[in-house]
Amino acid sequence: MSAPEIYSPGLEGVIAGETSISTITGGLRYRGYPVTELAEKTSFEEVAYLLLHGELPTASQLNAFQKRLAEARKIPDSLRGLLKVLPPKASAMDVLRTGVSVLAHYDPEVENNDHDANLRKAERLLAQIPLVVAAFYRFGQRQEPIAPRADLGHAANFLYLLRGTEATPDQVRALDVSLILYAEHEFNASTFTARVVCSTESDLHSSIVAAIGALKGRLHGGANEKVMDLLRQAGGPETAEKWIRDALARKEKIMGFGHRVYKTGDVRAGILKKFARAAADKTGNLDWETTAEIIEGVLEQEKNLFPNLDWPAGRLYHALGLEVSLYTPIFVMSRVTGWSAHVIEQLDHNRIIRPRARYTGPEVRPVKSLAERGT
Ligand SMILES: CC(C)(COP(=O)(O)OP(=O)(O)OC[C@H]1O[C@@H](n2cnc3c(N)ncnc32)[C@H](O)[C@@H]1OP(=O)(O)O)[C@@H](O)C(=O)NCCC(=O)NCCS
Repeated sequence: MSAPEIYSPGLEGVIAGETSISTITGGLRYRGYPVTELAEKTSFEEVAYLLLHGELPTASQLNAFQKRLAEARKIPDSLRGLLKVLPPKASAMDVLRTGVSVLAHYDPEVENNDHDANLRKAERLLAQIPLVVAAFYRFGQRQEPIAPRADLGHAANFLYLLRGTEATPDQVRALDVSLILYAEHEFNASTFTARVVCSTESDLHSSIVAAIGALKGRLHGGANEKVMDLLRQAGGPETAEKWIRDALARKEKIMGFGHRVYKTGDVRAGILKKFARAAADKTGNLDWETTAEIIEGVLEQEKNLFPNLDWPAGRLYHALGLEVSLYTPIFVMSRVTGWSAHVIEQLDHNRIIRPRARYTGPEVRPVKSLAERGT
């Protein structure tokens, strides 16, 4: 007897697997901890450790983890050379996807799919990804990449690699909180992609390469790069209301709003909004924040649509003086932890992911010979 046919477009509402890494039900929690509390009380490195290793680290575990990350902050010369000659106008997400692919060739354990080997590879990728992003960025600015600093954390080191000077503690904390909030989100499109790839018993690097491709799209991680475009089109506080009403009348999709699962708001957006506003305040210009609030008000009133995390993230990164092309790669710098945790979990209890499709093509028909098909 065949199984009953279940079909939900976009897999909406479908339970496609089990996970103990995070849940959205009852508020986003990573391994049981509410993300609101994690954003308040921990650093990104503690969250990365939690996602990969299952528990928050003790002080000595955190120390050892940070040491391993600092030691893994290196990329092969050949990759560095490649980043220098790739077209400077190439999408930074495409370059990062290529970069992770190249890193696979140099990872000593690339073909080892054991749980512990995958943890070691995940830690190395976590340390290497910011170097790839920063090196390509620096080459694009006609500058040489900067050597990483072992004494700086993930967020602080990344800002240092871009700028060559140390960021302020407020800037580092704001970026760090955004990394905490971006780290993990259950069966989103890119995470599911990573799980599909490794379910064939493919390797961690291949899964992460595929996940980067999925994240790039503007309906997923790519949305954070569209936020500033949208605010610029809105013009400013005086023109924002008319602009958003006209955009809705034209049935435009508003990037940074709406969510497949959250229909009454995304708690992460509320947390990061405070950091975006504080960072904008430091620049002495709150116009984009005010513009954003006007747009939020109209979308809630007219469409019952609420901001997702990408909405404040785009503004925060802008206020930190970061180029738009870096926004989705920053998402990768964080989400590689969630993706890796999912790959490891999938492989620990693997069954190949192979759903069915509802067929909508022609009825069965005979194949005509080439001569019978006419000219
Ligand atoms: C996230 C997203 C892809 C979810 O898609 P989805 O689950 O298929 O969307 P829903 O089923 O909830 O959409 C319900 C309705 O709201 C509309 N809607 C949803 N998000 C919208 C948005 N950002 N702007 C305008 N309208 C939107 C849909 O078009 C749909 O309208 P309809 O019923 O008239 O066709 C979608 O909200 C979107 O494209 N958002 C913008 C991109 C973005 O910010 N992505 C980051 C997500 S974290």
